[in-house]
Amino acid sequence: MRHENVKNYCLGIESTADDFSVGIATFEGEILANVISAYVPEAGGIHPREAAQHHSQVAEKVVAEAFEKAEISPKQIGVIAFSQGPGLGPCLRTGATVARAIATYLNVPLVGVNHCVAHIEIGKLATQARDPVTLYVSGGNTIVSAFDAGRYRVFGETLDIAVGNCLDVFAREAGYRQKEGMPFGAIIEKLADKGRRYIPLPYSVKGMDMSFSGLLTAALKLLRQGKHRIEDLCYSLQETVFSMLTEVTERALAHTEKPEVLLTGGVAANKRLQSMLQSIAEEHGARFCVVPKQYALDNGAMIAWTGVLAYKHGLTVPVEKSFVRLKWRLEEVEVPWVQQT
Ligand code: ATP
Ligand code: FE2
Repeated sequence: MRHENVKNYCLGIESTADDFSVGIATFEGEILANVISAYVPEAGGIHPREAAQHHSQVAEKVVAEAFEKAEISPKQIGVIAFSQGPGLGPCLRTGATVARAIATYLNVPLVGVNHCVAHIEIGKLATQARDPVTLYVSGGNTIVSAFDAGRYRVFGETLDIAVGNCLDVFAREAGYRQKEGMPFGAIIEKLADKGRRYIPLPYSVKGMDMSFSGLLTAALKLLRQGKHRIEDLCYSLQETVFSMLTEVTERALAHTEKPEVLLTGGVAANKRLQSMLQSIAEEHGARFCVVPKQYALDNGAMIAWTGVLAYKHGLTVPVEKSFVRLKWRLEEVEVPWVQQT
C-alpha cells in the first residue's frame, strides 16, 4: 500500500455515454488507475437506458478494480469527482448516484466535473501543454476552444452532428460491426489508409462553425450507389471532415497566437488527423500536442484529475445539489486553476 495515512487521492467517475470508467489520480497529477468498461450495443447506436443499465451492473467491479490497480485503500480517498455533464441523462444519473454513494460512505467532498473540460485537462496534463488551442473531437462533441478571461472559450463548433458520430454512422451503414478495442473511427481509418481516389464531398465551414450532416448524407448516398470502393469512400470522408477541422483550428490559432495546439477526445487517436494538425501547428510555430491513446476515449482518469484541480480551488458540490447537467456548455464552466499567459 502507498502512503497509508495520506488522503490525497481523487477517485473520478465517468459515465456520460457508452463508457463507465473509474480513474484514480494523486493530487500531484499522477494517474494510478484508469479502468474502462465499454457498453457495446448489439446493433444500432447507443440506447441511453441500456447503457445506463450496463453502467450500474459493472460499477462495483470497475471501482474495485481501480482500487486494486492504484494499490490504495478507499480510506485514502480525499475527494470524489464525477462527470456532471454534458451527456445522456440516464447514463449521467447512474454515475452520479455511484459517486454520491461513495462520497457519503467515505464522508469526503464531491466535485462535479464538466466532461469537455476534462478532455482538455487530461490532454494538458499528459502533454505538458500550458495554454493551447484545443480541438476536442469525439462521438458527441466537435469543439475548437482556447482559454481567455477565466474560461475555455468556444471558437468554433459543429452546427449539427459531431465528427465522431458522422464517422460512426457511416461505418455502421457500411455494414461494419464495432468491437471492443476497435471503434468505428478506427475501422474507417484503416480502410482510408488503402484509399487512392478522392471523391468530392460537400465541404461545409460556415464562419468558424462546421456542419457534417449534409456531408454524411452525401457519403451515404455514394455508399448505397455501390459504384465506389469502400476504401476510397472512407479516404474521401476522412480527408473532407479533417480538412474542415484543420481549417477552423488553424484560424483559431492564427487569431489567438497560442503556443500550442492540443488534439483531444476519441477521434484524436486518428493518425491522419494528427498529421494534418501537426502541419498547421508547425506553420504557426506552435507545439503540436496529442492526448495519449489511453486518455483519448472517455475515461475516469480525466475526471479524477479535473476533480483534483477543481477541489484545490474549493469547487465542491453538496450531495443534495449535485444534479446532472445534460447540456452543460464548455464556456459556462469556471476554471480558476488556469492562469492567463
Ligand atoms: P463525448 O466525448 O462527446 O461524450 P464519446 O463518448 O463518443 O463522446 P469518446 O469516447 O471521446 O467520446 O470518442 C468516441 C469517438 O471516437 C467515436 O466516434 C469513435 O469512432 C472515435 N474514434 C476512436 N478511434 C478513432 C480513430 N482511430 N479515428 C477516428 N475516430 C476514432
Ligand atoms: Fe468524451
